[in-house]
Amino acid sequence: METKIWEVDKSVDNLPTFPQIMEAARWLQKNEVVAFPTETVYGLGANAKSDEAVTKIFEAKGRPSDNPLIIHISDQREVEQYVEEIPEVATKLMHSFWPGPLTIILRKKEGILSDRATAGLSTVAMRMPDHPIALALIRASGLPLAAPSANISGKPSPTKFQHVLNDMNGKIAGIIDGGNTGVGVESTVIDCTGSTPMILRPGGITKEEIEKVIGTVSTDPALHSKDERPKSPGMKYTHYAPKAPVILVDGSISFMQQMIDRYHSEGKKVGVLTTEEHSDLFHADVLITCGKRTDLSTVANHLYESLRAFDDTEVDIILSETFPTRGIGEAIMNRLKKSAGYHILKESQAD
Ligand code: TXA
Ligand code: MG
Repeated sequence: METKIWEVDKSVDNLPTFPQIMEAARWLQKNEVVAFPTETVYGLGANAKSDEAVTKIFEAKGRPSDNPLIIHISDQREVEQYVEEIPEVATKLMHSFWPGPLTIILRKKEGILSDRATAGLSTVAMRMPDHPIALALIRASGLPLAAPSANISGKPSPTKFQHVLNDMNGKIAGIIDGGNTGVGVESTVIDCTGSTPMILRPGGITKEEIEKVIGTVSTDPALHSKDERPKSPGMKYTHYAPKAPVILVDGSISFMQQMIDRYHSEGKKVGVLTTEEHSDLFHADVLITCGKRTDLSTVANHLYESLRAFDDTEVDIILSETFPTRGIGEAIMNRLKKSAGYHILKESQAD
């Protein structure tokens, strides 16, 4: 299939009537798949009411069919069409964080959305993205859009048009090139179907921000232990992985250098995922800098791009710095741990 490319400037007026957006919307109405930018990562969108359309998403990504998709809408009032009830906490969260990187799980109204989109669950994940192109595309299509991240399953999510092109060219109807995404990690997923809201995936909206609005929330215990079964189906798969294995190195500068030297002495080419503050301090074969430790939002912003960049190098192993799990650091460490398959070298446990 030839993949069309529509270049769109997100700052132009009246985006829903922009010819490229209207053309992309027509492909969605024909149950084809279109990739588009959001404020977090690029999404792979299709008509969430159609089994046929949603099946094409799973095929393009190579995604396991038991992993449900997030339904993207352009107006908070649309939610009631798709869910049985909207608890008060969910209303508060929507008022505070929509449009924005927060996905809310609610009880699904049966018979409206494709069962493939929700993987046959009795719940549905709803999100209103904060990106003019995403909102314009949803409006122009007149459809709820099921949209996972636009990467091949298992790879780091795409934050640039080029990432989407690398993964999806020839597999989908089209890609809207709207430049780089903003936050860099995906939306936070929060389940509001139980008595206490529970964060299933840390992301662009932090736990601290959520608790300011609705009080204490819980976190899926599986986020802190690889032995628990996660409540969000997608969290159980290996993810965000570059080709070379990733190992997290938790310790001082000199401990990182010791680990670099150890793998080097085994004849391996060593890549290091580092930060601006530390990039001059290590001697390794490849150093990739993913932002500033003093501003973790810059690390989130560059994380996937940096992990993908190792695929253009010849490294045999990637050693990564670790980050404090406060604020957006929680999402960064969640993604890094998953990309490393929970392989962490701790200085405190070194012999
Ligand atoms: O920022 C984002 O959320 C991006 C952009 C494109 O919007 N989308 C995204 O989608 O990250 P995806 O499919 O890569 O991740 C969706 C996550 C998965 O972990 C999935 O298992 C979970 O949300 N999920 C979806 N529906 C669910 C449900 N009903 N119950 C529990 N988890 C659900
Ligand atoms: Mg994903």
